[in-house]
Amino acid sequence: MDCNIKYNSYITLTLLLLIHSHTGDGSSLWSVWWNYDGISGPMMWGSMTNEWYMCSKGKNQSPIDIDPNMLLFDPTLKHIEIQGDMITGTVVNNGVDLSIEVNDTEDFLPVNITLGPLSYKYTVARIKFHFGSWDGVGSEHSVNGEFFDGEVHIEAFNSDVFANFSHAQKAPRGVAIIAAFLQVGKRSDENFEILANLSKLVPYKGQRVRLKELSLVSFLPNKDNYITYEGSFTQPGCYETVTWIILNRPIAVSHSQLETLRNLRQRDVNHPQSFMADNIRPIMPLNRRTLRTNINFKRGCTMQEERYYQLNTRKRVEK
Ligand SMILES: *[C@@H]1O[C@H](CO)[C@@H](O)[C@H](O)[C@H]1NC(C)=O
Ligand SMILES: *[C@@H]1O[C@H](CO)[C@@H](O)[C@H](O)[C@H]1NC(C)=O
Ligand SMILES: *[C@@H]1O[C@H](CO)[C@@H](O)[C@H](O)[C@H]1NC(C)=O
Ligand SMILES: *[C@@H]1O[C@H](CO)[C@@H](O)[C@H](O)[C@H]1NC(C)=O
Repeated sequence: MDCNIKYNSYITLTLLLLIHSHTGDGSSLWSVWWNYDGISGPMMWGSMTNEWYMCSKGKNQSPIDIDPNMLLFDPTLKHIEIQGDMITGTVVNNGVDLSIEVNDTEDFLPVNITLGPLSYKYTVARIKFHFGSWDGVGSEHSVNGEFFDGEVHIEAFNSDVFANFSHAQKAPRGVAIIAAFLQVGKRSDENFEILANLSKLVPYKGQRVRLKELSLVSFLPNKDNYITYEGSFTQPGCYETVTWIILNRPIAVSHSQLETLRNLRQRDVNHPQSFMADNIRPIMPLNRRTLRTNINFKRGCTMQEERYYQLNTRKRVEK
């Protein structure tokens, strides 16, 4: 009993301190404060502010588990087309994730994603990284209940209809996200190395460093085969405006590249013990949504080769 009272007053005090320290900079208290565990974690996002009600009320939320038995082969799904390639921007430690904010400059044309399951053109605006504090956790989506070592989200907004990302993110058909899993292996991705190296320069929240250039096309794994469904952002406000495209191949990263990300902190230099790793929203219910794929499981002998994640799952179990 005594203990409870102390705990409650601790929370109240923390809240007051937070309100006090954040009223000065004009940014909203809650957008500064949410994270991935405890009283400001995923279970609480929906009740933190009216803006974020979909985090608790939404029935078309992300991430989900991809049950291979639920996949519906859809022969009308086209290949994904990417126009443009090079991006420049800023690598940002947001506390809750490592992001690349793509910055339009005269050097390169904006990169666009079309076709696949998409009826509009989507322009790449930001890239976000989710990862765990050890190998075997880190992805937000799972396949047949198995998680990967991390997950990259290439977030693009519907530029046929909207002027910018912030406008599009709350609107129907506003956003498309290409997701690729990170998988620790012997090979390592050179482009991922560029980011891992830059992340060493932004260990604490709010730090930013310029990304001179990155080839998005070579950063992405093979994009011929994918799974698509309609879902939401995996962070507040959980808007249900996202067409997800989950690639059937992971990005190969080395253990030491992931270790570099695991040094990122959630907060400032005075709180070195709070790490960013495990920035993962729990799996949300599918609620009878359709999971479509362009992977044709019935094509005889090529089937084994193309069901990459099932093969992959088996390998992980053997290990
Ligand atoms: C991508 O779309 C934008 C907006 O319509 C356009 O300005 C840009 O030229 C396109 N990029 C490429 C590589 O075609
Ligand atoms: C975008 O790039 C320009 C020129 O390189 C720079 O001056 C500007 O600050 C950058 N904007 C952002 C939002 O990073
Ligand atoms: C986004 O576009 C809307 C509508 O065109 C505009 O009102 C708003 O200022 C833009 N926001 C940013 C951050 O550029
Ligand atoms: C990353 O940093 C390591 C160690 O400093 C260096 O050897 C390597 O060349 C860098 N790689 C890239 C792609 O910048």
